[in-house]
Amino acid sequence: MSARVWVWAVSFILCGCFQDSTPKHSDYLPLDYQSKFRLVRTCRQISGHESNYQQVLAWPVSAADEYFTGQYPLDEGSVIVAEQHGDPSCGSLNGYYLMAKEKVGYDPTNANWHWQKLDINQRIEEDGKLATCSSCHAKCTASDDLCAPP
Ligand code: HEC
Repeated sequence: MSARVWVWAVSFILCGCFQDSTPKHSDYLPLDYQSKFRLVRTCRQISGHESNYQQVLAWPVSAADEYFTGQYPLDEGSVIVAEQHGDPSCGSLNGYYLMAKEKVGYDPTNANWHWQKLDINQRIEEDGKLATCSSCHAKCTASDDLCAPP
């Protein structure tokens, strides 16, 4: 095989691998979420996640109202996102921890939450019925596995 064919073949394979391994953007968090989601918990220090500070936003407005007033369980389709930050004024984003309420029956023992861990570009790092998340949030069954007090 000529050198040119080799270069073409290797580039083709590398390019294919690269495309396949590019993490997917989360379907639950639109790029312009800040204009659509409502702030439900202002910036505070936390423990349990990798970052030390977070603020929480919810979508749609009805879910934000339910979260605010503690009407559990939240409706199917509710999305709760916790921005992860490294500083007390929540000005240095490290990524996102997200909970999306699926249909009844999705994961009944864990309040039917779909969990996601996203990077700062909202690309998925971990996704689905994540035991690492639900095992700790199971302490909060009285509030639909939501752990952030008002
Ligand atoms: C070791 C315990 C622990 C683990 C593991 C954990 N969390 Fe949390 N999470 C908490 C606590 C505690 C809070 C509430 C923090 C506060 O406001 O005081 C919280 C809050 C949240 C919130 C805000 C909504 C709410 O009220 O609960 C989201 C969203 C969230 N976590 C997602 C995740 C995801 C996604 C994972 C897995 C990648 C995860 N968590 C893993 C303890 C944990």
